[in-house]
Amino acid sequence: MNRWDERYSQKGYAYGTEPNQFLVEQVNALNLAAPLNILSLGEGEGRNAVYLATQGHHVHAVDGSAVGLEKAKKLAEQHHVSLVTQVADLTHFSIEQPCDGVVMIFCHLPSTVRHAIHQKIMEALVPGGVLIYQAYSTRQLNYQTGGPREVDLLVNLNELEESFSDMRVLHACMHDKEIYEGKYHTGLASVTEFVARKSFE
Ligand SMILES: C[S@@+](CC[C@H](N)C(=O)[O-])C[C@H]1O[C@@H](n2cnc3c(N)ncnc32)[C@H](O)[C@@H]1O
Repeated sequence: MNRWDERYSQKGYAYGTEPNQFLVEQVNALNLAAPLNILSLGEGEGRNAVYLATQGHHVHAVDGSAVGLEKAKKLAEQHHVSLVTQVADLTHFSIEQPCDGVVMIFCHLPSTVRHAIHQKIMEALVPGGVLIYQAYSTRQLNYQTGGPREVDLLVNLNELEESFSDMRVLHACMHDKEIYEGKYHTGLASVTEFVARKSFE
């Protein structure tokens, strides 16, 4: 059992059952016409995938935690939607299908793995496809409100701008904001946010 399985074996939902606020804001702003094929990487217990499914999208939720994805399926049932779930380690992950959208919310990977995944996302997105990304920045080490304590796992804006330099940036910032999500995201935090669309050329 990995450490995420242990966390998700606890009672309740570690990050709550409400979707991530930034994701909701961006989905509304983008006015995405459902149904889109959306890949959610590091989905965890399903709060974001279920939200996207309730908006009419086809969601493929990937996570390394089987326990998390079992809970995601239960949450989906409660909301009368379905998800495709896949237990996989993103270290060796191939994106097999083209995607209209990719979501990465607080999915913190070692930098080498992260760079490879960014490249795979670029390749998998269809022209016009969108990426919605939120992660703790290195400045989060100044706070005790959630996220990894290893600098290599944290994500700054310059990295995303570089990885996705061929995309049209719709929103990009690194700032401090209050984030309360379940028991592990507990207040003022420093986050990197990035939303971009793959060009049609
Ligand atoms: C902080 S949780 C966020 C979960 C979810 N995105 C959310 O916002 O509720 C990070 C998630 O990334 C997943 N994760 C971390 N490293 C992974 C890897 N190498 N492969 C697959 N999943 C991974 C964990 O299992 C965990 O569910």
